[in-house]
Amino acid sequence: MTRHIHIGVFFQGVGHTIAWRHPDHAPHDAFETYVRFAQTAERGLLDFIFFGEGLVVREHQGKFFGPIVNGRPDTIALLPALAAVTERIGLAATISSTYNQPYELARQLASIDHVSAGRAAWNVVTSFSNSAARDSGGDQVAYNFSKEKHLEHATRYDRAREFVALIRQLWDSWEEDALDGGRVNAAKIHAVDHAAAWFAVHGPLDVPRPPQGHPVIIQAGQSDDGRDLAARIADVIFSPFRDLEESRAHYADIQARLLRYGRPSDAVRVLPGLAVVTAPTEREAHDKAEAYRRLMLTDVVRRYLLGEQSGADFADVDLDGLLPDIDPSQPGVNGPLLTRWQELSRERGLSVRQIADTILSRPPVVGTPAQIADHFEHWVDTGASDGFLLTPTVFPNDLDDFVDLVVPELQARGRFRSAYDGTTLRDHLRVARPAGRWARSSASVAAGT
Ligand SMILES: Cc1cc2nc3c(=O)[nH]c(=O)nc-3n(C[C@H](O)[C@H](O)[C@H](O)COP(=O)(O)O)c2cc1C
Repeated sequence: MTRHIHIGVFFQGVGHTIAWRHPDHAPHDAFETYVRFAQTAERGLLDFIFFGEGLVVREHQGKFFGPIVNGRPDTIALLPALAAVTERIGLAATISSTYNQPYELARQLASIDHVSAGRAAWNVVTSFSNSAARDSGGDQVAYNFSKEKHLEHATRYDRAREFVALIRQLWDSWEEDALDGGRVNAAKIHAVDHAAAWFAVHGPLDVPRPPQGHPVIIQAGQSDDGRDLAARIADVIFSPFRDLEESRAHYADIQARLLRYGRPSDAVRVLPGLAVVTAPTEREAHDKAEAYRRLMLTDVVRRYLLGEQSGADFADVDLDGLLPDIDPSQPGVNGPLLTRWQELSRERGLSVRQIADTILSRPPVVGTPAQIADHFEHWVDTGASDGFLLTPTVFPNDLDDFVDLVVPELQARGRFRSAYDGTTLRDHLRVARPAGRWARSSASVAAGT
């Protein structure tokens, strides 16, 4: 049986992964940009649109550089507005489990699910720290939330596990039929009385059970803790892999973890992030990709990203020379990473600029619609993914091209829907709707058992 291909699309926000200097790039402060994004994705019958979250503007040595992923209106404001101008497309928000409270977020996500009639999704992130702010001895994200330090990795995931378990209890605190017409049946609303390491919440939620039972849950962790959380709770898993074998290994690892948690092997959709550049001819597609590359990687960006990833100072380093001898044991420096770059520079004679280009840019898949469709089919058919999360380099151009050229090709091959066959995001993804923890007990009560 051929497997269905699932496709979401990431509105990347300003930053180095998009060619924001391209003359066609749509303005991020105009609501029309987001309307066009959502409506184009829906015209292409994609599963969902997706927004990331950064919570800081990049800062290096006292200078602001650019937002990590945002530079646009907040998702909690965007998604309900986009729900009103679309009918089917799923609406996914990235929101930190480190810098929010479960009761508040449960209300917000349940509300988006209600106003969109079952199209909401939550990408659970624990948020990354900005190493460039280590100069000032603290952490930039934490400083925005009145905290001295970002939580350690394992601690963030500990909080995330409890956060998600609690938010799901809150979504379950109203039975399916607790609302009878306009009347609330108070007997069908239940406290959660949660008290554990991170949170103490009495409940119930003040918003009825979401139409999808629970909004779709997305997770993108790559560490052991991250993958573990994903296997426990996610309906969709994002990954960063561009290599087929790496992605297959990740897929197999997720399958093994699902088994460990007693979940069926088809319980989740694994979607690697992927930039696609396509055009009617191969030549046009490659010319376009090369023009994008030149717009994205400037020397300022190279210096900043080398510094951010390694924790070392690249402000005055000669980009045309070999990587200089920077002490990898300095405080705040990622020693193993810097040593690997130094070896690469010495052994292959690569300049600092070349190292930046090979390590930091994530080249797109470039080709004709048929070549892109081949790529999609090959990955899905060889157990490397269930589809992709598109990461357009220039919006709207790349999404228009995908919808106008690649979607018809996939449809002609019988690999992509020709119409939405359901109304909720869970329908599009073909993932189960959670039953709710009161479903069985109510049935038992009704049956007098
Ligand atoms: C496609 C994709 C999108 C992501 N978007 C975000 C985001 O918007 N905000 C965020 O804080 N982290 C984002 N992440 C990072 C992950 O949540 C995760 O922190 C990262 O993959 C490292 O894994 P770990 O948390 O297990 O160490 C994204 C990752 C991927 C692969």
